[in-house]
Amino acid sequence: MRNFISLSTQRLRPSGIRKYFDIASTMDDVVTLGIGEPDFVTPSHIIDRGVDSLRQGITGYTSNSGIFELRQAIADYIERLYHVTYNPECQILVTVGVSEAMWLAMKAILDPGDEVLVVEPCFVANAAAVEMAGGVPVMVETSVEHEFQVTGAALEAKVTPRTKAILISYPNNPTGAVLTLEHLKEVADIAEKYDLVVISDEIYERLSYGVTHTNFASLPGMYERTILMSGMSKAFAMTGWRIGYMAAPIELMAAIRKLHQYLIMSAPTIGQYAALEALQHGEDAVAEMVAHYDRRRRKIVGGFNDLGLSCFEPRGAFYAFPSVAVTGMNDEEFCERLLQEERVAMIPGSAFGESGRGFVRASYATSEDNIDEALRRLRRFMQRHG
Ligand SMILES: Cc1ncc(COP(=O)(O)O)c(C=O)c1O
Repeated sequence: MRNFISLSTQRLRPSGIRKYFDIASTMDDVVTLGIGEPDFVTPSHIIDRGVDSLRQGITGYTSNSGIFELRQAIADYIERLYHVTYNPECQILVTVGVSEAMWLAMKAILDPGDEVLVVEPCFVANAAAVEMAGGVPVMVETSVEHEFQVTGAALEAKVTPRTKAILISYPNNPTGAVLTLEHLKEVADIAEKYDLVVISDEIYERLSYGVTHTNFASLPGMYERTILMSGMSKAFAMTGWRIGYMAAPIELMAAIRKLHQYLIMSAPTIGQYAALEALQHGEDAVAEMVAHYDRRRRKIVGGFNDLGLSCFEPRGAFYAFPSVAVTGMNDEEFCERLLQEERVAMIPGSAFGESGRGFVRASYATSEDNIDEALRRLRRFMQRHG
């Protein structure tokens, strides 16, 4: 029988994250700092609103773009946070998470061979989203020396006549970096100079510590060339409800909506009602979770630095990204041995791009007890290998 799998699918690289979860799932007593989702349960009033919608018999499809009240609430939320105005009739789309949004954005703008500047290290799905849409991801590296900030010069060095877009994702997974206003402006200048679309994945926008997140569309001249995406997963602890959203200029959104209609029909109805409650009444819960993350952040970053694993200070998301160079191991060896010897799971930084090599990602979306235990085990490990 011939191989039925398309060449383009064969060429997609498997995610570098899965391997460690597969190993960890065969072991007992693993402390995992590997998982990129909140450890909190969705706040109960949000759950109730979703369940109520089911009890009321609201179990069908919704409008393709999402229920209007939710689109209005999303527009109000963006306006309140950033003073950026979108029309809920024609500029907001409710999606199945940022995951769907990313695919839609790429499919809407790319012709075969078009290039996207993908700033890395970044979420494992980013380059794959470009490839799945027939485009070519061109990776733009960042470094700890520049606090994982992307510079205009680094972007410009990779621009070619085929470049169509820039993909940024700040606050960043896996580094925890938040792009400063100065660097945001450099990105904006390059977008303007070479007439590029900017796809800004702001899923961690609410999780920042002592710094202010800037919405990319709020920068001068950027509204017309930004495809903004965010969602409920991280800030409201709602990963499983699968609700995200996009906001874009009218013409781009019309193209995106056409794809969404054929691909998805409409985002999960129960999730949309829960998201409405989250946006209308969820602020206290967000503030409480952010306070927890911040305490854990300080604990884990302090812990790594005490152990000699030099750790850049993350200002957003819920990840720490220490260097493991001092151990003489590369990041993959470090993670494998740490898992085998001490049963602590982290993710090698190289899974997120070349510039993550030599670092590991530790998620602090886990209890302080787990962080304490992970640090105790790591201390033993470092006594043997430090
Ligand atoms: C940077 C980034 N973007 C997008 C996603 C996916 O988000 P969603 O649950 O909205 O699909 C993740 C999940 O880890 C992420 O880290």
